[in-house]
Parts: sequence; C-alpha cells; structure tokens
Amino acid sequence: MASTKIDNNNTGQEKPPLDSVASKMPKLKSEKHYNQCAQPIFHGRRKAYKLSIRKKFLINEVLPSFRIRVPQDSKNINLVDLFPSKPEELHLEIGFGAGEHLLAKAIQNPKVGFIGVDPFLNGVASLLNGLIYNNVKNIRIFDDDVRLILDYFPCESVKTVYILFNDPWPKVRHHKRRLVQDDMIRILANITVGGGHIVFASDHADFVRWTLKKFTNSPFFFWEAESKKDWSIRPRDWIPTRYEEKALLKKRKITYLTFTRTS
Ligand SMILES: C[S@@+](CC[C@H](N)C(=O)[O-])C[C@H]1O[C@@H](n2cnc3c(N)ncnc32)[C@H](O)[C@@H]1O
Repeated sequence: MASTKIDNNNTGQEKPPLDSVASKMPKLKSEKHYNQCAQPIFHGRRKAYKLSIRKKFLINEVLPSFRIRVPQDSKNINLVDLFPSKPEELHLEIGFGAGEHLLAKAIQNPKVGFIGVDPFLNGVASLLNGLIYNNVKNIRIFDDDVRLILDYFPCESVKTVYILFNDPWPKVRHHKRRLVQDDMIRILANITVGGGHIVFASDHADFVRWTLKKFTNSPFFFWEAESKKDWSIRPRDWIPTRYEEKALLKKRKITYLTFTRTS
C-alpha cells in the first residue's frame, strides 16, 4: 500500500486538460443498451455542496465513459464486458464515498474488475479525478442507489463485496433505511460466488450488532471469527477509508466483519 501512488485530491500536481482526457476515454461496450436510472429510493445525500466547474465537467463529460446503467430490457448486465480487458474476478464496493479505498484496491489489483456504487455526486467526481490521474481502467461506476442495480447482476458473479462505514441510521424509526436488510442479504447471496466474501466495517455498535445478527441468521453466509482480534483488528491488506480515519481520530471503536458465502 505504501508504494501505491494515489492522487484523487489533485494535490500538488498540475491538472491535465480534462476535455482532452474525456475525448480519449473508451466508451463502455454496453453503453448503448442502457437507459437512464429509475427513480432513486435513496435517503442519503446526493450532493453536500455545490459542485465546482471541474467536478461538473467530470460528472457530465467523464462519468459516461465509466458509468453502468440500469438495463432497459431487464436482462442481466454482462459485467465482464464492461471492462476494456476481461477481469479475472469482480469486486463490488457499495457506498465508496470519495472512492479512496476503491481506487487504491483497483491500482493494487489491475486484473480485478471493480464496480463502485454511490449516488453521492461529490464523491463520484473525486473518484473520477483519481481515475484520470492514475490512469485506472478497471473501475466502473453506478452513481445511484445500489438497490436499483443489483437485480441485474448475474448469479455468482462477484467475488468480494465491500460495505464500509455505511450510514448507520441510528434512530429506530430509520432502521428500515439501513442498507443491510434480509432482502439485501438474499441479493448479495445470489450475486456472490461460493467462497466469496462480504467485507463490512463500522464504528456504530448497534449497526454492527444488527449486521452480525442478520448475516449469521442467513443460511448463505458464515462468520469465521474465532477471537476478538478477528473483529477488532483490521484484516490483512486493509486500506483505510475516510470515515474510518475520522472515527479513529475520535477514538471510536471499529468493528471489522468478514462473512463468507457458503459453497
Ligand atoms: C458514511 S459514507 C462512507 C464512505 C466510505 N465508504 C468511507 O468509509 O469513507 C456512506 C456512503 O454510502 C453511500 N450509500 C448509502 N446508502 C447507499 C445505497 N443504498 N447505495 C449506494 N450507496 C449508498 C452514501 O452515499 C455515502 O457516500
């Protein structure tokens, strides 16, 4: 990780001319099949503050080359075909925020195809910035609520799913908004390969308990943890996320859970 050069904040480097970058981007092979996304059911924020001119350009001109769309014909998406060269396996990050984790993973694993999902446009633009600076080709993006797209993923298509510091929705009346629900676990079970993993982390104790209970109640996943260090210490090759660092600064306890798909 230390040797991986990542710059998605555009610090200290000259900006490449974005219009020339956009015109050179390969179009998604499947772009023509897809229509605009359906109405979002997302409760979080799509924008935190006004997008800068550069970020607007990234969203309007660069995102279309990386974007996954909801299929118009209700057929499954051929996920492998979304990438310029056939990935060895596919990983999915739900709620990538500003994309630091997704970008670093993609740089470290160039043969893996990464799918990032997040409707938060400021974060999507930051990720796009990082993709351009690092010339990363193995990421595709769905910029809407993940629940709109997962039904179109083929069965057993994804090896690892990351759900990192997703919104905990602490109030009881908002628990139904939490991403981790029985239905979501069934969908994740459907798209994950046998032996594949769901990697979850959170600093919110109640959301952790909720998630642990739901996954361990599912016949499709098991939790291999044996001792405290299995959930209190970062897994190997861990890439810190922005929210994780904020939580650590506040000295909050973080829990790391890895669930394995039964074969
Ligand atoms: C608290 S942030 C964490 C971001 C990042 N994973 C990190 O650790 O820094 C949660 C992110 O999940 C996204 N999110 C929440 N619900 C989602 C959903 N249903 N589909 C896709 N993304 C979602 C939000 O937009 C937000 O960017």
